[in-house]
Amino acid sequence: MMDSELLKKYNVPGPRYTSYPTVPYWDTNPTENEWLQALKNSISQATASGTGAAIYAHLPFCESLCTYCGCNTRITRNHGVSDPYINTILKEFALYREKLGIQKLKLSELHLGGGTPTFFTPSELDRFLDGLLSYCETTPDFEFSIEVDPRVTKREHLEVLRERRFKRISLGIQDFDPKVQDIVNRVQSFEQVKTLTDEARALGFTSVNYDLIYGLPLQTIASIEDTIEKVVRLRPDRIAFYAYAHVPWIKPGQRRFTEADLPSGDQKRALYERGRELLESAGYIEIGMDHFALKSDSLFTAVSSKSLHRNFMGYTARNVNPILALGVSAIGDAWSAFAQNEKLLETYVERVERGEIPIYRGHVLNAEDLILRKHVLNLMTRMETSWADAGERVEYLSEVPAKLQEFMQDALLEMGTNSCTVTEKGRAFLRNICMAFDARLARKAPETRLFSQTV
Ligand SMILES: C[S@@+](CC[C@H](N)C(=O)[O-])C[C@H]1O[C@@H](n2cnc3c(N)ncnc32)[C@H](O)[C@@H]1O
Ligand code: SF4
Repeated sequence: MMDSELLKKYNVPGPRYTSYPTVPYWDTNPTENEWLQALKNSISQATASGTGAAIYAHLPFCESLCTYCGCNTRITRNHGVSDPYINTILKEFALYREKLGIQKLKLSELHLGGGTPTFFTPSELDRFLDGLLSYCETTPDFEFSIEVDPRVTKREHLEVLRERRFKRISLGIQDFDPKVQDIVNRVQSFEQVKTLTDEARALGFTSVNYDLIYGLPLQTIASIEDTIEKVVRLRPDRIAFYAYAHVPWIKPGQRRFTEADLPSGDQKRALYERGRELLESAGYIEIGMDHFALKSDSLFTAVSSKSLHRNFMGYTARNVNPILALGVSAIGDAWSAFAQNEKLLETYVERVERGEIPIYRGHVLNAEDLILRKHVLNLMTRMETSWADAGERVEYLSEVPAKLQEFMQDALLEMGTNSCTVTEKGRAFLRNICMAFDARLARKAPETRLFSQTV
């Protein structure tokens, strides 16, 4: 079958599998007590294996809306919101410590995401980190990371972060073409990015990631070539080359450009393929789905040591659990359960002020979920999975081999007796292959539009 025919065949709405079950299929909200218990169990397991927990803090503010944005943000130019938000999120952390009976949390990872964490001034960020880290004890292998928008990030931010021992930084680039930048309301120059990257390196950040998106309005092969050429010149250690997720029914900001300006399925894939070609010839290795890393980066070594992991933050070099999520809309993971905080800022604040853990939905994984989660994760991180292990509960997989036949016929997958491996050609359809393991999706196809297209 021609590649364009395969793209047409498999370009359907589908999850990105940053979790299994995927969020729309969560159906067993944990109570506050169940959630705390799941966290306690995961913390004791982590302690027994000598690691700590991870904290993800969601800092939602941005000064202006990039119209492609799919993140949970609050757009405002009023910086008066920062101090009260920092107080609330620190109070949320205090509530967790009190209810979990912990004085100091053993911490292996801290990730600040958003929105734009550097919307806060350097001194606000410092106060927040002080309030958080005074109640944590870092393990020797700790890693602190942050997502920043180069348009609002100053050297003073980087200095505060380095003093607080951050070594990983991720810059939102998206695209360097002025026409694309203009139509998505995200105008930033190459010089801004270069200056910030140079400053970060000089101050001792050892891992720099760039976020790029393919499939944005007005992108062409020539514009992608130009963007990648500029990126390669600055040599970030990692690159997330995201497929643009078009979900205007959830994110009305995406209606501010016309859909006619979006590259079609074929064109979108061609943008990725050209980008990949250029990145590979510059020494980057494709990791999992939509990610690239230099051979010196831990994301690359994680592939050979089979420790590559995927969670709500994307790909990580190891699996640190639990993820204690703080801040509006943040999603926590205690392995046996997920929970998401209130998505509306005002409700989140009200609940924390009342002394409640502000979760509003989640999922307690059952035996089937836990098995399927493992296979989806194996595919997403290793391009293969096997159900030959002794004790594997194969009854949960009874329908999977038949569903995989089609991928095999299309040369996207090779099947072993109790295993399967994604072929080079199949990488483009990884989300579709994972869907064959998604029993919840199979049982209840969505009645409304939930997911972006897989291609
Ligand atoms: C929280 S932002 C990163 C930090 C900062 N706010 C910025 O934009 O520079 C997270 C990343 O998600 C990606 N992203 C946002 N909306 C997306 C969409 N609709 N499809 C694909 N990627 C998207 C962008 O690459 C963005 O850099
Ligand atoms: S892409 Fe980043 S800066 Fe732009 S609106 Fe989304 S979170 Fe804010």
